[in-house]
Amino acid sequence: MIRRDVLKSMGAAAAGGAGGVTLAQAEAAQAQEAETPVSLGFGPYGTPWDPADPDIPGRQNVVPVSEDYFIPGRFAGKTVIVTGSARGMGEVAARRLAREGANVVGVDILEELGASVIDAINAEGGTATFLGGDIAEDAVCAEMVRLAVDTYGGLDGAINNAGVMDALFPDEPIDYVNQTDRVMARIDLAGDEYFDRVVKVNVYGTFYSMRHEIAQMIAQNRGGAIVNVASVAGIRGFGGTVPYVTSKHAVQGMTKTAAIDCAPYGIRVNSTGMGTTLTPMFERAFEIIGQRRETDFKDTGIGLYKSMSLLQYSDQQKRGSTAAEQVAIMLFLLSPEASNITGSTYNTDGGFTIF
Ligand SMILES: NC(=O)c1ccc[n+]([C@@H]2O[C@H](COP(=O)([O-])OP(=O)(O)OC[C@H]3O[C@@H](n4cnc5c(N)ncnc54)[C@H](O)[C@@H]3O)[C@@H](O)[C@H]2O)c1
Repeated sequence: MIRRDVLKSMGAAAAGGAGGVTLAQAEAAQAQEAETPVSLGFGPYGTPWDPADPDIPGRQNVVPVSEDYFIPGRFAGKTVIVTGSARGMGEVAARRLAREGANVVGVDILEELGASVIDAINAEGGTATFLGGDIAEDAVCAEMVRLAVDTYGGLDGAINNAGVMDALFPDEPIDYVNQTDRVMARIDLAGDEYFDRVVKVNVYGTFYSMRHEIAQMIAQNRGGAIVNVASVAGIRGFGGTVPYVTSKHAVQGMTKTAAIDCAPYGIRVNSTGMGTTLTPMFERAFEIIGQRRETDFKDTGIGLYKSMSLLQYSDQQKRGSTAAEQVAIMLFLLSPEASNITGSTYNTDGGFTIF
């Protein structure tokens, strides 16, 4: 007798009819049902999350904007800080800003790599300066603004992009079993070191950056624009990443508050809520998840069940967002064309959050 039949019998017994069962029988039936594999009965379609039919007539992929695309002269004479400029989205942003005429101040904790990116920008005719340091330190954020002012005479914009998902150094090799106190973990297993470092970089780092950038912009009295790089993790939850989700929600909150504080001074502050983007951070996160699967850690996988955006799911190659696609929106938000946008989150997420 499966649980459904037991419950039916219990209902009949309660109604005074024949065929009642004892509590022990009900519990035994429930245990048996839990062990029986469940068939969801989706017939020939398998399950709703099976890959789409590759032969849908008229199928088209969305073509990503080229990494070489730029708008000449859009930021001519403007000085822009980019944190996290050594690789990933920050690197692409620094390169494109320089091609569009900006003086770029790049900041990164990966000092050698960061310096080499800035050298390459200068070698191709751009104007850029590098500061090695940790944005989780207020003094570094003060120094990056001072460098912009001393080198280029002021500050017009900033992309506060540096961020981390875990408490590892950004290029520390992944060795999950020896790093469990510092990387993805279910909330009851998440340690202080993991929580503190992610919050320190993503929340305090963004706060320190904005504090010094905005002080300079107000003192200059010529307006400005700031883009804080948040995430879809600032809008919804993700399993196993409580410090990251907490930190990105905080970035969204700081963005709205800064927009209100800065509006009277002609300074706009926005954020981008991006989904999975093809960068070293993304590769490292998936490496951690992969290594964790090799351990005896067990869960249902629900926390990571939905990891694809709408466009990624529809794409025949399941392409993720590119750094160039993200940077295109960051630069738009920095530009005068976005004059009517402040305090907003641009969900540059390939439709991630709408389904
Ligand atoms: N890649 C994604 O899928 C994704 C999705 C949503 C949001 N984001 C956010 O986008 C931003 C950029 O991410 P990415 O994917 O290019 O990552 P990335 O790791 O490839 O690049 C981040 C850069 O920031 C630097 N950095 C990290 N901590 C720093 C610190 N304390 N001080 C100075 N520099 C530091 C790193 O050295 C690195 O160069 C991050 O804020 C991240 O949270 C990324």
